Amino acid sequence: MTNLKIDPERLWDDLMQTAEIGGTAKGGICRLTLTDLDLQVRNWFKARAEALGCTVTVDDMGAMFARRAGTRAGVPPIGMGSHLDTQPTGGKFDGALGTLAALEALRTLVEAGYETFAPIEVINWTNEEGARFAPAMIASGVFAGVFTRDFAAARKDRSGVTFGDALEAIGYRGKEACGSHKLSAFFEVHIEQGPYLEQEGKDIGVVTGVQAMRWYEVTVTGQDTHAGTTPMPRRRDALVGAARMVDAVDAVARKAAPYGVGTVGILEAKPGSPNVVPGEVFFTVDLRHPETTVLNQMESDITAAAEAIGIALGLEVSIDNIMHQPPVHFDPDCIAAVRNAATASGYSTCDIVSGAGHDAAYIARVAPAAMIFVPCRDGISHNEAEFTSKEQCAAGAQVLLQAVLDYDRRLAERHRL
Ligand code: GLV
Ligand code: MN
Ligand code: MN
Repeated sequence: MTNLKIDPERLWDDLMQTAEIGGTAKGGICRLTLTDLDLQVRNWFKARAEALGCTVTVDDMGAMFARRAGTRAGVPPIGMGSHLDTQPTGGKFDGALGTLAALEALRTLVEAGYETFAPIEVINWTNEEGARFAPAMIASGVFAGVFTRDFAAARKDRSGVTFGDALEAIGYRGKEACGSHKLSAFFEVHIEQGPYLEQEGKDIGVVTGVQAMRWYEVTVTGQDTHAGTTPMPRRRDALVGAARMVDAVDAVARKAAPYGVGTVGILEAKPGSPNVVPGEVFFTVDLRHPETTVLNQMESDITAAAEAIGIALGLEVSIDNIMHQPPVHFDPDCIAAVRNAATASGYSTCDIVSGAGHDAAYIARVAPAAMIFVPCRDGISHNEAEFTSKEQCAAGAQVLLQAVLDYDRRLAERHRL
């Protein structure tokens, strides 16, 4: 362990400063990916990293890599970071903490003149949230070979703009092919986004893995007809069908409690007129469970319910599975680096499996990875009220710094053998 210490005030200042880019009246952030606000925060990040002497490169999915050289040429960098995009009613910490804690850790190294063996990179992944372009974690997904670049570039937001065009419009399509960038390891700090750490009174969650998650896009097609003149038995009302399907998603998830969860987060009815029976409905489904077998059962129960509802109401139902992430188990050496760093820094810890998806979950497919969780108040996240204190944010950044240095030392030892 080194005696290097991150600066809690500087980290907090960065969090509060960037929170103004897209800041909402209720104290949260609305900074959807690849918007002008995302451009502003990207430029802020680039300027800060360059001021620390880093070289900033961008890949063709817009992922940003701020690099500080190590003492050994030819060793892939150790990455640390997260994302700077937010949900429409996002908080100040989801993603921002992981990216800015990484920047603060790097700044601490620069100021101390501490030389690492491997290069160190602070990474800002594009479209982690999936709020504007589904699915979530697009850049890290392409980086890990989960999605093709063509699939990613063609994803459309709800107004029909593609990911590729939006990336081009803000000037952040880089030259490097996403995924060609090797990493020796990747570490991500994040708020827990759930209640467990607070409830257990622990400072740091040593994240051992991420539960399985799947996203679906469902289109229900019936017939647009006159609301005043179409008798009830003659209707093919797509919204009534969708409503029953939403209820089925909820019922299936409740049956799989306490670990199973199911959410319909977007629902759009067309044509959207008070006196037209809706002929088409689009909705999304997010299903999660730590175990694949249970998730398979949840998926087949929902599919069967949707088909039965469709038949009963004379509706066509199409279900497109756009994200299929198996359970993730993080790398034992990276987990050990996090645990050692937390314990040596004097923090209480417990092991935890993430309920939320994260970029580290995809990166774990192509590089050793692990995560560090800090508590958030009342377990509330994806909400403008999301809150983690200055001290808790600092604890996450401090553990990140020490875990990266611990991993770097082991890497150096392995190369010397
Ligand atoms: C990421 O924000 C997720 O949906 O888990
Ligand atoms: Mn996040
Ligand atoms: Mn999020």
